[in-house]
Amino acid sequence: SIHPVILCGGSGTRLWPLSRKSFPKQFSSLTGDESLFQASARRLSGGGFAAPVIVTGSDFRFIVTEQLAQVEISPAAILIEPAARNTAPAILAAALNVHARDPGALMLVAPSDHVIPDVAQFVAAVEAATATARAGNLVTFGVRPDRAETGYGWLELSTRPNEAFTPVAQPLVRFVEKPDMAMAQAMLAGGQHLWNTGIFLFSVDALITAFEAHQPEMLAQTRIAVAEAKQDLGFSRLDPTAWGALEDISIDYAVMEKARNISVVPYSGAWSDLGGWQAVWREAGQDATGVVTSGASTAIECSNTLLRSESEGLELVGIGLDGIVVVAMSDAVLVAHKDRAQDVKKAVAALQAKG
Ligand code: GDD
Ligand code: MG
Repeated sequence: SIHPVILCGGSGTRLWPLSRKSFPKQFSSLTGDESLFQASARRLSGGGFAAPVIVTGSDFRFIVTEQLAQVEISPAAILIEPAARNTAPAILAAALNVHARDPGALMLVAPSDHVIPDVAQFVAAVEAATATARAGNLVTFGVRPDRAETGYGWLELSTRPNEAFTPVAQPLVRFVEKPDMAMAQAMLAGGQHLWNTGIFLFSVDALITAFEAHQPEMLAQTRIAVAEAKQDLGFSRLDPTAWGALEDISIDYAVMEKARNISVVPYSGAWSDLGGWQAVWREAGQDATGVVTSGASTAIECSNTLLRSESEGLELVGIGLDGIVVVAMSDAVLVAHKDRAQDVKKAVAALQAKG
């Protein structure tokens, strides 16, 4: 069976002020009833999947247990990171945990900030990828790009993807994490690149071997952090000293840009990373004028505008707006131009500096 690993330790700062350090976006319901985290866990439950491993920060441990209980999923383990070190150490710690229980296992890495409406199609793509993963390849699922997105990783193929975009594994030529705009435009125009979904399938053995080759120090430290973990009320707290010494780096830079044994499986279903307000706006059902309202929000003669009132009883009214994002919480309000909404990261940094 395949062991799902759900990453939910990110802070989601590009969705401020809804996403907070204490309650990041993956635990909010941005487009449906369930939170993004709950939807991710449910997508990977039942069928050929083992109980999931959750990797998160200490602050989120009770949000995780409460939200899992609501959807009636019992995890195999909840690994608690003493500090956020990005996805490379988190994925490796999960792989070591799974390896100790099942050395021959396949593991599926699932970020918790994605919207994937067609679960059956997604699971079929995962199944189509198992043979190449069993053969020792690191599999990433690629989607067809439709804009020059600099916030994603891009996957270069040796040929154009097959016309029907069927989930057949192709070898990866090059992995480009978060390119600049010129590079993204060139890759979009060339037609030989897909977006990296950040969803990965591999045998735990192949992943550990890849860290041995490309991140040997991280492997040594993470082994200690996992071996010395303290069991505490169902949580496995990774050793803070070993963990603290780890580099803060994503799996994309640490391993995927370096490894040579990567397979790409095309995924033709809808997929979106709710990385920022523009993406939320794109995903939500817009009306003909591109207006999206939620909560107690009213748009009067607006176009291409997102109005969200997140506070009970807080009336938000926009008049004559074009290309504007407004998100109102009880203690913070964001007003931004749609094309600058990614820059809320800067607001978060500025507020943190103020203390
Ligand atoms: N446990 C844990 N610890 N989880 C983390 C940490 C951490 O320190 N940092 C991030 N995560 C979780 C996030 O909550 C999210 O679910 C997932 O890991 C991915 O992290 P992001 O920070 O959202 O990555 P990204 O969106 O910038 O980039 C990745 O995903 C893109 C597609 O969504 C990359 O893999 C890109 O190549 C890819 O295109
Ligand atoms: Mg993301």
